[in-house]
Amino acid sequence: MILSIESSCDDSSIALTQIDSKQLIFHQKVSQEKNHSCFGGVVPELASRLHAETLPLILEKTKTYLKDVQAIAVTTEPGLNVTLLEGVMMAKTLAYALNVPLIGVNHLKGHLYSLFLESAAIFPLGVLLVSGGHTMLLEAKGFHDIRICAQSLDDSFGESFDKVAKMLNLGYPGGPIVESYAKKGLRDFFTLPIPLKNKKQFAFSFSGLKNAVRLQIESEKAENGILSESFKENLCASFQESAITHIMQKCKIFFEKNATSVTQWKYFGIVGGASANLALRNRILEMCNFYGVQLLLAPLEFCSDNAAMIGRVAVESYHNKEFSSLDTLQTKPRMTTF
Ligand code: KG4
Ligand code: ZN
Repeated sequence: MILSIESSCDDSSIALTQIDSKQLIFHQKVSQEKNHSCFGGVVPELASRLHAETLPLILEKTKTYLKDVQAIAVTTEPGLNVTLLEGVMMAKTLAYALNVPLIGVNHLKGHLYSLFLESAAIFPLGVLLVSGGHTMLLEAKGFHDIRICAQSLDDSFGESFDKVAKMLNLGYPGGPIVESYAKKGLRDFFTLPIPLKNKKQFAFSFSGLKNAVRLQIESEKAENGILSESFKENLCASFQESAITHIMQKCKIFFEKNATSVTQWKYFGIVGGASANLALRNRILEMCNFYGVQLLLAPLEFCSDNAAMIGRVAVESYHNKEFSSLDTLQTKPRMTTF
């Protein structure tokens, strides 16, 4: 089996995956959300220290399996350098001690493979990746053939939820909180801009929308002094509506292009932490139905960061004999390649 480690941001996670059956033997994840909540976002040094404390505690639980471990996999890119390093140091130590090969895994590829945790991957595939660090439309034709078709010019979809939550003092991570406020509000209460609406640009942008939210908050504070619950609910609903409409407008271009392509994909996946957003899921499902494409989703528990998806990618690398050595395995905070 493969032992995999994830520490690219604020989740410490270890998994064990059987190589031939792809079966998940063990998985545990400890989220640091509560530790960062009072700061309104992830504090890298604190996150790194918490990984150093938590990863060994999780590893302890895998003790009885260590004799059967045939490779160690770890997220190497993209992510926070100081937190990636914690996982990589543990991976190198384990690989050395157990005398097994190392496998470096791209975190975003991990999110993609969260669709196929205990099954064979399906290609070709269209993918919307929405996480705290990235917003991308991908075309995946194989393990080594994943193309970025569109991505964000500034903030990511998930990050914009985090920033809106911070401005409204709702805590971190913002995604689930803003979504729950949005459920109680009116989505057409505020007229917020839909990013890149009249632009042909096949890309995403969320910083202008975030700024429009900030202006609404400032004018409400100037007028009433405080922000009422109903104000927050209506603002979250209107923000979420604009953010999702923006995603849908760019997805429409993607689906239209696909409909006329010779190498059409018939499956479309939404992955990443923000793929847990129910309003987004429902709108994408409608689009998939319209274009006759089948929607693939990861189990909710595996939408956000986890080591199981890293182990799943590593199974493919293991079969391809794509290993790294103690000397060559490095962290790359900015993504280099899939
Ligand atoms: O994939 P992930 O766990 O970490 C990264 O790789 O970045 O994604 C975390 C992001 C956070 O920005 C969080 O606010 C967002 O996913 N998120 C959501 C929802 N649940 C999590 N965004 C919108 N709606 C949600 N329900
Ligand atoms: Zn992630």
